[in-house]
Amino acid sequence: MDLMAVTLHVNGSANRVEAESDIPLLWVLRDQLGLTGTKYSCGIGVCGSCMVLLDGMPAKACRITAAECAGKKITTIEGLAEQADHPLLKSWLELQVPQCGYCQSGQIIMAYALLSEKHDPSADEIDQAMSQILCRCGTYPRIRQAIQQASEMMRAKEPS
Ligand code: FES
Ligand code: FES
Repeated sequence: MDLMAVTLHVNGSANRVEAESDIPLLWVLRDQLGLTGTKYSCGIGVCGSCMVLLDGMPAKACRITAAECAGKKITTIEGLAEQADHPLLKSWLELQVPQCGYCQSGQIIMAYALLSEKHDPSADEIDQAMSQILCRCGTYPRIRQAIQQASEMMRAKEPS
């Protein structure tokens, strides 16, 4: 087994790891860096439970290799959790969005990416973006509500 050294910039820290050239980012995050908030579910790029931000864009950590992420800025749910006063996280808690919770790190990462791109997404735009992350508990109505509430809070803070 050939190992290669890769430096991953995760949640603001540089981490040097030894990894097989084809190992998915997901396993390095979970097994080597202990960032287990990023979940494994389908492993084939379908469910979105493993979503992270790669240079600010949503990316499925089961479908990209750690080697491909060298030099890029990776943000996981643990990184977003450091922004506890972010309107999205506040709304998520206030509206008690999660049920079993398994899909929720992927949901929050995707919602964060959506609000970074569009400060005032329509209900259709929210549903379209969030349908990429499967929730077996059917929390989509609360997800939509939380994103709409966070959007309002963020726009209220913008200079007029
Ligand atoms: S575990 Fe990556 S998309 Fe399902
Ligand atoms: S909250 Fe259970 S799968 Fe989404």
